[in-house]
Amino acid sequence: MKYLVTSALPYVNNVPHLGNLAGSILPADVYTRYRRLNGDKVIYICGTDEHGTPITISAKNERLSPRLLCDKYHGIQTDLFERFHIKFDNFSRTTRKPHYELTTQFFEKLLANGHIIEKVMTMPYDQKAELFLPDRYVEGTCPHCGYSPARGDQCDGCGKLLLPEELKNIKSTISGETPIFKKTTHWFLDLPKFSDRLKGWLESQTHWRPNVRNFALSWVKHGLKQRAITRDLDWGVPVPLPQAAGKVIYVWFDAPIGYISSTRELYGGDASKADEWWKSKDTQLIHFLGKDNVPFHAIVWPSMLLGVDEGYNLPHYIEGYEYLKFNGKKFSKSLNHGIWLDEAAALYPADYWRYTLISILPQTKDADFSWQEFGKRVNDELNDAIGNFVHRSLTFIQSKFGGKVPEPELDDAAKEMLKSIDATFEEAGKLFEAFDLKGALNSVLRLAKKGNQYFNEQAPWKKDNPTALYVSVQLDAALSVLLSPFIPASSQRLWQTLSQKGSVSSTSWSAPKVAAGTNLQKPRPLFSKINPKEAAERLASLRGKRG
Ligand code: 2FM
Ligand code: ZN
Repeated sequence: MKYLVTSALPYVNNVPHLGNLAGSILPADVYTRYRRLNGDKVIYICGTDEHGTPITISAKNERLSPRLLCDKYHGIQTDLFERFHIKFDNFSRTTRKPHYELTTQFFEKLLANGHIIEKVMTMPYDQKAELFLPDRYVEGTCPHCGYSPARGDQCDGCGKLLLPEELKNIKSTISGETPIFKKTTHWFLDLPKFSDRLKGWLESQTHWRPNVRNFALSWVKHGLKQRAITRDLDWGVPVPLPQAAGKVIYVWFDAPIGYISSTRELYGGDASKADEWWKSKDTQLIHFLGKDNVPFHAIVWPSMLLGVDEGYNLPHYIEGYEYLKFNGKKFSKSLNHGIWLDEAAALYPADYWRYTLISILPQTKDADFSWQEFGKRVNDELNDAIGNFVHRSLTFIQSKFGGKVPEPELDDAAKEMLKSIDATFEEAGKLFEAFDLKGALNSVLRLAKKGNQYFNEQAPWKKDNPTALYVSVQLDAALSVLLSPFIPASSQRLWQTLSQKGSVSSTSWSAPKVAAGTNLQKPRPLFSKINPKEAAERLASLRGKRG
């Protein structure tokens, strides 16, 4: 089996925050790293989502053209993801020419196959600004849950897709005025036509998380509506029809096609190479995303893939995460509530963030990041349970055996400990297979705690205990491999301290063996404790300095 892993293409109008990282990009990276270690063929595909009203609105606010705004933030995001050790196989952009071409082909094929319909619709129109107001250009109260401000395309409160005319108390976000409704021609994807096939397909996805599957199924059961896939905007992929001058394809139509165009780019534009991932039956297509993206990936995108009828695989798995909050509230740029990745990178090593974010990953319910939580994870788990065990065992070998791994005589306790290592590879591997990344990390943490207990029981400081030290080194090496999907940089440092060659990320998902007689390097502590109160102060001072 091969694995084609994607994370939702981030809009290219901001510096991402911790929630953006945890919401799909980091877990997809961790999962891909596990797959590689497990010997599977896998690629991780992503890129920036550069169209739509999120971009045009930000460009206006920053007084830049949309293109310059995209260039600026594509650079910033590429750099930040690298600093958090996110290893994409390709990180593309939806403004590249081959992406335009592929999007155009999708549109034309769906039209030719009778799945796109031309209709006249009424859209909100701002008389003052003299333009139609798609998507985020209007706000109001959600008719389903009462949330305000809900956007013209989707409600952030309940996640439902919306049409502007459904909003109560609708206002233009440009002028603040109540818009009028005017007629305009648009092209619609005929979603109801796919209902039966979608229903059957979703029902058979019993390996999905119930919240994701039920959410998608309830959509289909409530009856799908034809959905406009064009907009009155001048930023985007032009609608390839002579009568559609001044109209572009809706960002949510072109964005997922970005997964394919980014894969093609990885192979220098060779579509047949990309098709070996997209069309071959031995590939699983796995999408990581936030829950607000579920309707698009579980309904609209599969309909597009079915509709072009070119043999594309449907998603095998959709991991739709709940939200990460900061101190109990949503991240908010306007309120400066949250932590942004440039700040996070300046404050603490990437691995501290990676570890903490996975250990609180919102897999089944919303999660909360706070400095207290960060302190608990970094101090009690990374530093005490993992770092101290590793450091104690390695410094003992230095002082008692001159840094050379001693020859053991394996007794029952030693054998038991070595068995636990194998069992952890097996258990954590199974949890990865079930997309329980948090569970896999916990399993590794339990092994480290067991190691501490073993070390304390063996008390090598009381008498020479070469066996306990030998076993501890095996455990150190196992931790280096087991932790490498989560904290690759620290794992690599540990790997080198153990005098192991190459990269820990390219070894395999099984207990490594450090032979007796190996000369180890002098250990340096892997982590250090943080003070939550001080962390908050450091962030405030960083913001003060930057103004
Ligand atoms: O919600 C978002 O941030 C979108 N930019 C996600 C797009 S996912 C995909 F389809 F590309
Ligand atoms: Zn709502």
